[in-house]
Amino acid sequence: MKHDMILVLDFGGQYSHLITRRIREENVYAELTGPETGLEGITSLTGEFSVKGIILSGGPSSIYERDAPKCDERIFEVGIPVLGICYGHQLIAHTFGGTVERARKTEYGVTEVTVDKRRGILKNHGKTEKVWASHGDTVLSLPEDFEVLAHTKNCPIAAFQHKKKPIYGVQWHPEVVHTPRGQQLLRNFIFDICGCKATWTPENFIEKSVTEMRREVGDGRCIIALSGGVDSSTAAVLASRAVGKNLTAVFIDHGFMREGEPEEIRKMFSKFNLNLICLDERKKFLRRLRGVTDPELKRKIIGEEFIRAFERVAAKINADYLIQGTIYPDRIESGFRKHSEKIKTHHNVGGLPTRIKFKGIIEPLRDLYKDEVRRIAITLGLPERVVRRQPFPGPGLAIRVTGEVTEKKLEILKKADKIVREEIEKCGLEKRLWQYFAVLLDTRSTGVKGDSRVYGYTVVIRAVESTDGMTANYAKLPHELIEKISTRITNEVHEVNRVVFDVTHKPPATIEWE
Ligand code: XMP
Repeated sequence: MKHDMILVLDFGGQYSHLITRRIREENVYAELTGPETGLEGITSLTGEFSVKGIILSGGPSSIYERDAPKCDERIFEVGIPVLGICYGHQLIAHTFGGTVERARKTEYGVTEVTVDKRRGILKNHGKTEKVWASHGDTVLSLPEDFEVLAHTKNCPIAAFQHKKKPIYGVQWHPEVVHTPRGQQLLRNFIFDICGCKATWTPENFIEKSVTEMRREVGDGRCIIALSGGVDSSTAAVLASRAVGKNLTAVFIDHGFMREGEPEEIRKMFSKFNLNLICLDERKKFLRRLRGVTDPELKRKIIGEEFIRAFERVAAKINADYLIQGTIYPDRIESGFRKHSEKIKTHHNVGGLPTRIKFKGIIEPLRDLYKDEVRRIAITLGLPERVVRRQPFPGPGLAIRVTGEVTEKKLEILKKADKIVREEIEKCGLEKRLWQYFAVLLDTRSTGVKGDSRVYGYTVVIRAVESTDGMTANYAKLPHELIEKISTRITNEVHEVNRVVFDVTHKPPATIEWE
């Protein structure tokens, strides 16, 4: 079965990935690709998918800059519907001979738009709509072949369409939640204008992914890194469907797991029909991290040790391929996109050493968001506990201990983290939290315990709400709960005399402290 697909050309906008995500929420496959993808590249995709529409994303450039990214203009000639968003909107106008200039008044944030023509991409819209915009340039005029669909106080051409061709532009961002009617706009485009069928379901994904893995691996032996999280567990079950006995799952205990976790993982996966090898590498990891305080260096060392450990097992069992549970946000934040900023090195991506001894690395979940992975996991029949497990970073507690990682600090953090989890789960709050955990700071402070001065450690309570980890809000936990956690930690973990609550959103902070 050939699925319909929307291709999103990424001009480096902060929200480009959200466009693909919103489309996939409608069960239509969407993929992000570089703006340099020419018509040949697009038509070559049609083997597996029918490319039914193209979206040109937003981006930080100004269209009149010398090196401003452009697209292959032939895409406007082949009859595939095109929608330009923000920079994409300006690019279309510019390409067809309209004028784009720096706006006298820029628009950032929620703006009111007047809808002049409630049709095409603006079908089922009100006469006015609240929309979210973020742009410094504005389309000021269009050639005769175009008509204006909407305007705002500062922007005379906020949405347009070509009179004869299926070409549309919108200055605001329909993909962000702050544009209430945004999903409707995208639905208008993908279903009414492009004629897509909503066939992209978890079952289809599983089928496609299993077929691709079989094709790539053939009779080769595979090894998978199992962390117990939903990503690697889902990848393991998918891979085992694809290659059966040729798969070996390896769980490496680096010593940075949470209290009780390694035992739990061993127990759970013994129930699955997997070849499972458990390696105790705790001493080795700690030794490699001795004296290391730089967060990026920690991540790189851990990533490298991981790969080395896998290579050793792989050599023993003659494995050719390494399978990983890398998901889409991991790749975005590791700076894989040409125009996006690198935030931090996720150990299973950017931290990969160059001397890889595998024939290939396979990442079956590389294009999925966390909630999509969870849907796949449920369809594959993974236990609820794994599916709902809060995300846990590959480098584990090593990046939740700021400064040098020592056995003692890890022990303190494990005790404090257990208390944070227990108390939050006792209140049933975990369901609405993306993550909740403790961080141990390197900074000590003065306190008093039992009439004596102490100079102890500080623990941070971090609890966030998020839908994909890309942005997050700190969770407004009840004060009584924070107090209970604080009292328990300072009473039960004697090295700690101060507990603080992190009240920072992402951005500007990241969820993890390192
Ligand atoms: P940050 O701290 O960048 O984290 O806001 C976003 C999400 O990613 C998780 N995270 C990682 N996951 N390997 C992973 O598999 C890593 O190196 C890594 N670093 C951060 C983090 O827990 C959060 O859910």
